[in-house]
Amino acid sequence: EKGGFEHFMLKEIVEQPTTIFDCLRGRLDTKEGSIRMGGVDPHLDRLTKADRIVILACGTSWHAGLVAEYVFEELCRIPVEVEYASEFRYRNPIIREGDVIMAVSQSGETADTLVAIEMAKRQGAFIFGIVNVVGSSISRLSHAGAYTHAGPEIGVASTKAFTAQLAVLMMIAIKVGFAKGTIDQKRYLHLVSELGAVPAKVEAILESKDQIRSIAETFRDARDFLYLGRGYNFPIALEGALKLKEISYIHAEGYPAAEMKHGPIALVDENLPVVFVATKDAYHEKILSNAQEIKARKGKVIAVISEGDDAFSSLADATLPVPAADELIAPLLSAIPLQLLAYYIGHSKGLDVDKPRNLAKSVTVE
Ligand code: M6R
Repeated sequence: EKGGFEHFMLKEIVEQPTTIFDCLRGRLDTKEGSIRMGGVDPHLDRLTKADRIVILACGTSWHAGLVAEYVFEELCRIPVEVEYASEFRYRNPIIREGDVIMAVSQSGETADTLVAIEMAKRQGAFIFGIVNVVGSSISRLSHAGAYTHAGPEIGVASTKAFTAQLAVLMMIAIKVGFAKGTIDQKRYLHLVSELGAVPAKVEAILESKDQIRSIAETFRDARDFLYLGRGYNFPIALEGALKLKEISYIHAEGYPAAEMKHGPIALVDENLPVVFVATKDAYHEKILSNAQEIKARKGKVIAVISEGDDAFSSLADATLPVPAADELIAPLLSAIPLQLLAYYIGHSKGLDVDKPRNLAKSVTVE
């Protein structure tokens, strides 16, 4: 069942070129330059005219929602709020006509997410589900939606479901932005082709598994890790930290890189590995100077970088290169080495990475 792999988690990480391809297949056509989505097309008007999008999710799915916030606001100029479903359901949230509520969930059974959308639905909101498990409770409750088509995810740590969520959310944002006219045809076609190129780029990243494994072995005894990113890669820093916590039981925190000066920099000493998610984008100079500051305080710098980026390779103690991509699409690539890093650290500690202690695959009770 594990297809020759030692753990489901590794199998699911390695499957990603296929699962992302499956998610795009039949929807994104790079030759024709089109995106067709059965669950979106009939409701396109509702999305282009939305006054606001509220994304509800938990855990890793919430991180996918955060990436989507940046992407939707950039491409569609629609205000987006991303909320922990557990917080949304217990406060008295403002839900207006014209709001679109998006629920993001691998399992489609997460109790907080389910109850949050039930509540929003009762108040008249339009519910759009982005779910992996076909026929699950959240998919049945939604008015419309798009499946992520990642196949069953067995490892407790979400990996392939996360990248499929990103792929679906990005397709929707690109589609809505073009339909709305907030992006022009040139940018639209560029993003369609960049998204279509992701499976092959993920395949290329997976070829560096062994290097990532040896980096993992170097840092496996650290007590804490800090993950920093900016812009589209900020949520990937959060996701990298969550993966490490779950799988290796090492304390890890993710922050927007600029926040380090507002507190976390106090943690930096020669024992602290700091993972920068620093692919080439508009924030590159800024994050580079953040990394220099960590280095000056003797922290260990591990950096996810765009291939051939010498700026970081001379500074970092270890680099995790990924192929170059448009900055909006880059999170789909930068997530992969961080999944592998967490996996190999947990593995080298002899832990049960598929079933970390205290965790359940889906949290169906609050
Ligand atoms: O099934 P869901 O996507 O609704 O699950 C949400 C979280 O419970 C889930 O992402 C959790 O954080 C994972 N263990 C992360 O790896």
